[in-house]
Amino acid sequence: MCVNMGRNRAYQPFKVREDLQKRIIGSPTLYFRELPSTNDMAKELALRGVREGTVVVARTQNKGRGRQERKWISPEGGLWLSILLRPRTNPKHAPVLTLLASVAVAKTLNRSFQLKSEIKWPNDVLVNMKKICGILTETRTKRETLEFAVVGIGINANFAVDALPAHLRDSSTTLQEELKREVERETLLHDLLLEIESSYKVFVKGQFTHILDEWRGLATFLGAEVEVESHREKVEGRAVNIDSYGALIVKLRNGTLRRVLSGDLRIIEKSESR
Ligand code: BTN
Repeated sequence: MCVNMGRNRAYQPFKVREDLQKRIIGSPTLYFRELPSTNDMAKELALRGVREGTVVVARTQNKGRGRQERKWISPEGGLWLSILLRPRTNPKHAPVLTLLASVAVAKTLNRSFQLKSEIKWPNDVLVNMKKICGILTETRTKRETLEFAVVGIGINANFAVDALPAHLRDSSTTLQEELKREVERETLLHDLLLEIESSYKVFVKGQFTHILDEWRGLATFLGAEVEVESHREKVEGRAVNIDSYGALIVKLRNGTLRRVLSGDLRIIEKSESR
């Protein structure tokens, strides 16, 4: 299949390494100078039949999207990418793809830069309690089949936190801020895609428990007193677990367990033991 991406496509900020070309994830990797959103481009390509594992990278996004239809500010220097996946699985398992991606990001940041990254439900990767990465998975389903999933990953890499709007600066960080230097995005992308590739092989075998356990190991907020706010309700209690659909299990003050599907989590008090 031939996909004509036009002039925008010619830009290559960093090249994908040869060895990725033999793999599922990142073969091909398409680079763009500027896109509205890499997720939108990946979805468009998916509808045009491009193959599983196609990765879309943009140097900047002018309509980057976050969870709950929020804007995702995507300055130059960041790593903004989307991965197209076509797993033959029931759509109910799609949330595990987000968990898989957050684990892969946290592990890659820990391994490559010796940072201590952790995961905050539902899909944030934090360093020093500040958000360094967000993940947005979007799916298209037909009856009981998942036609495709697009996993969008935004990593704040080579820019100062001042490039973000004022209201996000206290709660966000970037690799540049944490390491006091710029990172090689080519290597970061390469390592991240390899990590995702190996977890995705586990996912397609249906071994979700392995992915969930890894997620729990990095989710240091588990055990903490939290508040989860969604457009429907505000829930307060102890975050005790996540289930296999990515829902957070909160133990309320009266001892009952509440399953929360979406919302923003705020840590009120961390537990002593973690
Ligand atoms: C969030 O934390 O709210 C999720 C943010 C996801 C941002 C990434 S950047 C690459 C991809 N393209 C988008 O428009 N969004 C995702």
